[in-house]
Amino acid sequence: MQKIRFGILGGSGLYNMDGLQDRREITIDTPFGAPSDAIAIGSLDGVEVAFLARHGRSHGLLPTEIPYRANIWALKSIGVEYLISVSAVGSLREDMPPRHMVLPDQFIDLTRKRDGTFFGDGAVAHVSLAHPVCAALSQVLADAFDDAALPAATLHRGGTYICIEGPAFSTLAESQLYRAWGASVIGMTNLPEARLAREAEIAYATLALVTDFDCWHPGHDVVTAEMAIGNMLHNAAGAQQVLRAAIRRLGAAAPVSQAHSALSQALVTQPAAMP
Ligand code: ADE
Repeated sequence: MQKIRFGILGGSGLYNMDGLQDRREITIDTPFGAPSDAIAIGSLDGVEVAFLARHGRSHGLLPTEIPYRANIWALKSIGVEYLISVSAVGSLREDMPPRHMVLPDQFIDLTRKRDGTFFGDGAVAHVSLAHPVCAALSQVLADAFDDAALPAATLHRGGTYICIEGPAFSTLAESQLYRAWGASVIGMTNLPEARLAREAEIAYATLALVTDFDCWHPGHDVVTAEMAIGNMLHNAAGAQQVLRAAIRRLGAAAPVSQAHSALSQALVTQPAAMP
C-alpha cells in the first residue's frame, strides 16, 4: 500500500474530515488491540491523508479508554510521519476565551491510568520530551490558520496544555492551581499521544480549540458538556479549513522534523519492534 504520510486525530466535535476524495476506510489490528475506530483515508487537494476519531466516530470512548498505543501504532504502520491532533480544551487564561484556537508547545501530564510507552518487556529507551510538540509542524498550522483567513478567529501561538485523567472536569482548587502553575489550556488526551508519537518518531502538533473557561472563571463556574460540545461544533468548521490548508502546505513542502530521528538521539539499551 502507498504510504500515507499525513495524519489527523480528531477530538470531540471533529469526527470526520470534510472533502476527502476517493475516501476509503481501513481497519487495522495492532499488538495493542484495535484503534479507536476505522481509519478514513482519502485525498485532500491531491494530498493523501489519514483521519482517525480518537473517541470513535460515535464518541463512545472516555479519555481513559482511548487505545492510545493502538492509535499511534496503526497510524505509524500506514506510513504517517506528521500527525495533527485536533482537541477540545478548557481555557485557563482570560485572554484565551471559548472559540479561540491555541497551538500549545508544552504539556504537563497529570494522567494516572494511561499506557504511556511502546517500551518495556525487554525493550528499553528514554526519548527526549523536553519539546513535546514538533515546532515545524506547529508552524505549518500557524501558516495554515493565516491561509484559511477565518472571519473573527484568533490563534494563540504557544502555551502549556495540562492533561488531566478526567472524565470529570477539575475542582475549583485544581483549576486555580493549574493557573498558578502558568498553564494555558486543559484537556484530557494529548499528552499520551505526544509521548507515544515521539517514541514512534512521528512529528506531532496540537490544534487546540477552546470550548470553555474551565471552572476558575468567575462568570463560568460550571463546565457543562453542552457548553463544551456546542462551542466545539462551532470551532470544528474553522478547524476543517485550517486542516485543509495545513495538508495542502504539507503536501507541497513537508518540513524537516527532529521528531523523525527521536530514537537515534534517545538513550536506548534495547530497541522495541516498531511497524
Ligand atoms: N476539554 C474541554 N474542556 C475541558 C476542561 N474544562 N477540562 C478538561 N478537558 C476539557
